[in-house]
Amino acid sequence: MPRALITGITGQDGSYLSEFLVSKGYEVFGLVRRTSADPLERINDIVKEGSITLLSGNLRDLSTIRLAMEKAKPDEVYNLAAMSHVGVSFDCPDETWEVNYYGVGRVINEALRVNPKVSIYQASTSEMFGSTPPPQNEQSNFAPVSPYGESKLKAHNDFVKQYREKHNVFVCAGILFNHESPRRGKQFVTRKVTNSLAKIALGLQENFAVGNLEATRDWGFAGDYVKAMHSMLQQDKPEDFVIATGKSHSVRQLIEVGAKALNLDLHWEGSGLDEVAKDSSGVVRVKVDKKFYRPVEVDDLRGDSSKAQKALGWKPEVSFDQLIEMMVKADYDSLKKEIGTDEGKVGK
Ligand code: NAP
Ligand code: GDD
Repeated sequence: MPRALITGITGQDGSYLSEFLVSKGYEVFGLVRRTSADPLERINDIVKEGSITLLSGNLRDLSTIRLAMEKAKPDEVYNLAAMSHVGVSFDCPDETWEVNYYGVGRVINEALRVNPKVSIYQASTSEMFGSTPPPQNEQSNFAPVSPYGESKLKAHNDFVKQYREKHNVFVCAGILFNHESPRRGKQFVTRKVTNSLAKIALGLQENFAVGNLEATRDWGFAGDYVKAMHSMLQQDKPEDFVIATGKSHSVRQLIEVGAKALNLDLHWEGSGLDEVAKDSSGVVRVKVDKKFYRPVEVDDLRGDSSKAQKALGWKPEVSFDQLIEMMVKADYDSLKKEIGTDEGKVGK
């Protein structure tokens, strides 16, 4: 039975990946930090089944990673742990670099110490492309514009490319474009929008505010993307792959698709910071607030995943509309369950 260690197992991707690897017959170990706000929120079911072993550790703390590696003795390591919020990285650059750069070195070095033949996946990101215009693929220039993107790029260059080319280590980076799900953190724009719209539909909230409506992202489904992580480690030689849908949508379109899924009839009025979306009764449901703008924005991301489609046989299965509908429905159903009512209040 192959053994896999996942850092960041409590996050969105870690939860889907752990389920996928268990379904493939892996013995799965997950690194969990003691300060995790709600470590079991996304992995409760699989932990209850007794299918995975949780080990205490923090990417900032070498000794904890060392102990975890010694216990897990992994054949495969998936390094998903990160300070993953781009906006927050401008406020917390030190924490960002500590986890997203130095932490990666700690994980890779300790994994190699217990098993020199280990296969390692590093969670690189489309944020590394920054201001490079789309479509972005493995040959595109990297031009990050945030501490998050910069720290991820330096980890990519120093610990993925260098270790592979100079030290012959089996380490691959997935350059993943945005991927979402009902398990996405509520501080990311898709989940913030689907959760807020569901609350509006249930009469729990009057409106919400967002930042840049025009930024576009290539949004796919996280459940599809974790399969690509696994495939990369099953190749004969380690390589990096862009994983993306090839289609991009704006934050404005995201709100429109989410509202439609809830039969909320929204229309836009005004412009710039004064722009709002009103419902058919003229009630303001969406506002724009400067505080949600980034100091520097990545305007446009759209990936070209043809290399992965050809070499890994990977392709996205869930469309943008299906993804947002899935997220809206999950938020609506769970909120409805929480408040114990079958009746929405919007439109009544
Ligand atoms: P996420 O939901 O924010 O999960 C991040 C995980 O990292 C959580 O389990 C968190 O644990 C853990 N973590 C943070 N700091 C840590 C530390 N100091 N020590 C140990 N664990 C720590 O992120 P995600 O969306 O699943 O993304 C997974 C990875 O893919 C990240 O590296 C992210 O940067 C990268 N990525 C994501 C996307 C995307 O669109 N989702 C795209 C490209 C790349 P706690 O529960 O304790 O907070
Ligand atoms: N979070 C957030 N909140 N973003 C907003 C908001 C808001 O209220 N309003 C507009 N946006 C815009 C952001 O400015 C950005 O252009 C876009 O929505 C997406 O923001 P996020 O959902 O926070 O994701 P991200 O693209 O910055 O980062 C995610 O994807 C990266 C891959 O490209 C994260 O998952 C990163 O970890 C990942 O590497």
